Amino acid sequence: MATFKDRIEGLKGEFETVADRVKDAKALEDLKNKYLGRKKGLVTGLFEELKSVPEAEKREDGRALNEFKQSVLMKVEAIGVRLGRPSPTDQISNHPDLTLPGRLRYVGAAHPLILFQEEIERIFLGMGYTIEEGPEIETDYYNFEALNFPPHHPARDSWDTLYITDDLLLRTHTSPVQIRVMEKKKPPILVINPGRVFRRETPDPTHLPMFLQVEGLVVDEGVTFAHLKGTLEYFIHALFGEKIKVRFRPSFFPFTEPSAEVDIECIVCEGQDKSCRVCGGTGWKEILGSGMVDPQVFKNVNIDPEKYSGWAFGLGIDRTAMLAIGIPEMRYFYENDLRFLRQFDLK
Ligand code: PHE
Repeated sequence: MATFKDRIEGLKGEFETVADRVKDAKALEDLKNKYLGRKKGLVTGLFEELKSVPEAEKREDGRALNEFKQSVLMKVEAIGVRLGRPSPTDQISNHPDLTLPGRLRYVGAAHPLILFQEEIERIFLGMGYTIEEGPEIETDYYNFEALNFPPHHPARDSWDTLYITDDLLLRTHTSPVQIRVMEKKKPPILVINPGRVFRRETPDPTHLPMFLQVEGLVVDEGVTFAHLKGTLEYFIHALFGEKIKVRFRPSFFPFTEPSAEVDIECIVCEGQDKSCRVCGGTGWKEILGSGMVDPQVFKNVNIDPEKYSGWAFGLGIDRTAMLAIGIPEMRYFYENDLRFLRQFDLK
């Protein structure tokens, strides 16, 4: 009599032949029922018979029967895939898991210098100033001549820049916008002009060949140096807080008379470090130039200096931002290191 093992082997051979003939889903379903069906399945039947196998062989025979059942299941699965029915695992991976958290994308943010420029603009807008901009490529006339720098004036040396032609250059300051504004508008004038400027500078912690300035200009009847001083002190205190120390130092600019430079105490070393790379150990750092508009400049734009007076200033935004943030390097702003920039992303 055939042993239980022989029966399994026989069924196996038969299954292989029948399985290879399966051509469609219906035949596959029949195959599955024929062998694995819960009531009349041939494999299922063998499990019933296993119960009456002598104890001594049960273990071995049971293992062989289980292996056969697994191979039938795998074959049915493989035929299903061959017929184009996606396997259960495919079905899972084809559907997105809607319970997963979404992926956050970094959308970028305003540059810290722009945020700082906007802070400056808000203070002046609050005092009734308007904002005007001028071109970064200027003519010699607007950058120098109209501002009272004659062609060979030595003051031009400290404002050296890149020339595009003999007459066109990258502006060295935002002061040419003063001229452009006064050509267009009649007093009273109350404007600020932010923008990028260029100079032949070797980069160091407090100098860059390209940086941002904001120019301010006030022209009206009866404007005095007291307005200049009061406005700039108010502005600096609004930006740095009431406690910051400010000093006005006499200076020279061809387009203002008298002129003053304004220093604030060095926030990086607080005047404590004799070898501070920001203030050079002086405890002070210059942040802007200013002065009363020179009568010759008024004449150049057909404003009567007997009737009107005015004052102007030009502030270095990068340097002021560096002090406000309390970092010892202006170059950080341009290195595009996200570890630095992300600290100012206020979102
Ligand atoms: N334009 C000057 C500079 O770049 C600053 C300044 C502006 C001085 C306005 C006086 C009046 O240094």
